[in-house]
Amino acid sequence: MRMTKKEQLSKLNIKMSKCSKCLLHCGNSHIVIGDGNLDAEILFIGEAPGKNEDKLGIPFIGSSGRILDKMLESINLKREDVYITNILKCRPPENRDPLPEEVYDCQPWLEQQIKIINPKLIITLGRFSLNCFLPEVKISQVHGELFDIEINNIGTKKILPFYHPAAARQNRKTRVLFEEDFAKIPAILKQIKKEQ
Ligand code: URA
Repeated sequence: MRMTKKEQLSKLNIKMSKCSKCLLHCGNSHIVIGDGNLDAEILFIGEAPGKNEDKLGIPFIGSSGRILDKMLESINLKREDVYITNILKCRPPENRDPLPEEVYDCQPWLEQQIKIINPKLIITLGRFSLNCFLPEVKISQVHGELFDIEINNIGTKKILPFYHPAAARQNRKTRVLFEEDFAKIPAILKQIKKEQ
């Protein structure tokens, strides 16, 4: 009999929690796998857990998470309606940028999460998440624009790049662009569903 999404993700989560492909697992308190609705139409992908996320094992629960929650509310969505994860499942020390080899090691986990959840729309948060799917493009040039991309063993997926909430918090102009991009989500999702 075919496994349900919940069973598939639980099996994957057990494997992820035993991962020692890179050294980040040595210094963390919790692995931060993801949070939300397994049947979500929208999957948000951030960069890596921070201090708060590492402490509790839940993504986006600090200041960036509060912005994300507020923006979701602005389009009548809650955390429970979407799924939220990161490229890296373990916190880099002192919140430093992810190293290319860490992204490389962690990417197969993310791909398996995408395969199981099978969202209609993937929203990348920040440049590291964007460059995982579209290397060498600049977030300032492509944010808010919808792309079709091919993912290993999955096929074509719709990617919508956004600035990272932390960047929106730090810069007023970026905050305005972030809010404008967020407001596009309902119409983009409606169009995707119409085309399917
Ligand atoms: N920033 C991220 O990219 N991810 C988190 O989970 C928290 C902050």
